Amino acid sequence: MGNRIVLNTDVHEGKINKNIYGHFAEHLGRCIYEGIWVGEDSPIANTNGIRNDVLEALRKINIPVLRWPGGCFADEYHWKDGVGPRVDRKRMVNTHWGGVVENNHFGTHEFMMLCDLLGAEPYICGNVGSGTVQEMAEWVEYMTFDGESPMANWRVENGQEDPWILKYFGVGNENWGCGGNMRPQYYADLYRRYQTYVRNYGGNQIYKIAGGANIDDYTWTEVLMGEAAQFMDGLSLHYYTIPGDFWKGKGSALNFEESEWDITMLKALYIEELIKKHATIMDKYDPEKRIGLIVDEWGTWFDVEPGTNPGFLYQQNSIRDALVAGVTLNIFNNHSDRVQMANIAQTVNVLQAMVLTEGEKMILTPTYHVFDMYKVHQDAEKLSIKVESDHIAFDGQNFPQIHTSASLSKDGTVNISLCNLDKQDQATLELDIRGGTYSDISGVILTAQAMNEHNTFEQPENVKPENFTDFQSKEDGLTVKLPAMSVVVLSLKA
Ligand code: AHR
Repeated sequence: MGNRIVLNTDVHEGKINKNIYGHFAEHLGRCIYEGIWVGEDSPIANTNGIRNDVLEALRKINIPVLRWPGGCFADEYHWKDGVGPRVDRKRMVNTHWGGVVENNHFGTHEFMMLCDLLGAEPYICGNVGSGTVQEMAEWVEYMTFDGESPMANWRVENGQEDPWILKYFGVGNENWGCGGNMRPQYYADLYRRYQTYVRNYGGNQIYKIAGGANIDDYTWTEVLMGEAAQFMDGLSLHYYTIPGDFWKGKGSALNFEESEWDITMLKALYIEELIKKHATIMDKYDPEKRIGLIVDEWGTWFDVEPGTNPGFLYQQNSIRDALVAGVTLNIFNNHSDRVQMANIAQTVNVLQAMVLTEGEKMILTPTYHVFDMYKVHQDAEKLSIKVESDHIAFDGQNFPQIHTSASLSKDGTVNISLCNLDKQDQATLELDIRGGTYSDISGVILTAQAMNEHNTFEQPENVKPENFTDFQSKEDGLTVKLPAMSVVVLSLKA
């Protein structure tokens, strides 16, 4: 059949919310501690305790929104333990993740400072599973009340004069699992109750996110929408790409067979079906699409690296992860009418991380580079793009060789992100460009020679973006040659 794309640069399909490029940092393994927070006395260069190398790297990818403190940790977190002088903060056990000591040195003030340094909006997940309504209400009061109140006074005492602006607040996490093992009817009632006390103080307006479904639990979405839609602004969805079986063996991040490449691609692409089906249920209750689908946990989940703490979820990251990021972000872009935020799990040293650290060393992962290349889509106008792709057959199923999305940025640049999911063959692509003439065309590519190529602390630049020039102009567009296992962003200017 061949690969053909028709891009209509004059058919605009709504804004791609920049929050689709959001991130998630949990008190899990070495994400917060070591990965982000080293403390002011650390020999690692830092800004008020936050390591500079990680900060600088994360700033470059324009993180729009950062979710914290969990995850499963959120439903065991008691925020009052994490404010006030650090020496006095409670040392506790992180029961969910590795049973290690949590010294609470990174708390609300440190998180807000991190967001400020990153220029990211904070997205805080409250504790429903083991916390009280009062505790949640007081946290919001502590952070956002502008005036005299017990919590606001305490915040001032702890060094923060002005209230923070807090837009995004999640009412619990995975309430069907680690967040309380609830049934949807029960959680829907609890959601209604807890969210009542998540107040808007002064000018602060909170966007309330209800805990949503796990993968294909459509009943959960149906019940939540039916029972509580009028009280929410967003409803979450969690989906991880796991090539193997969650309990019996997820598969290795680096030592995998060719078949696992294909399984991974199929499973990554499956998120589109999930989005469509959950969105269809949401459409029934919310045809105006007021409520956002918030994919606040997604990414690859492999077995931990040999010899590392199983509770720390530390995994390497290869060109395969880059392809998963590329297709998933394309899918979010293409469904940006309903998907209003997404948060890849997780920012540093955990699951599909942007950055890995080892002592004072830091490396950027292939996934990081995809976020860097795709940042052009943030808040851009989605463009109409139609794809006819060859398909790759695998085990009675098949998936497209080419995957894409496109947008128009504010400065008039058309950006097309293209993935070649094929592990061995180059793809030739006829790209028809309609609705405009573009003479200044440039490209960036991320690719590799082997399926598991990755960056290491010894060789940090094995996989990195390069200039891409393998395209030729033709009458109505371009002929593009995409190497196997590649992510490309083409930028067209008039
Ligand atoms: O991201 C790791 C964990 O995965 C989160 O804590 C939890 O919400 C999910 O099950």
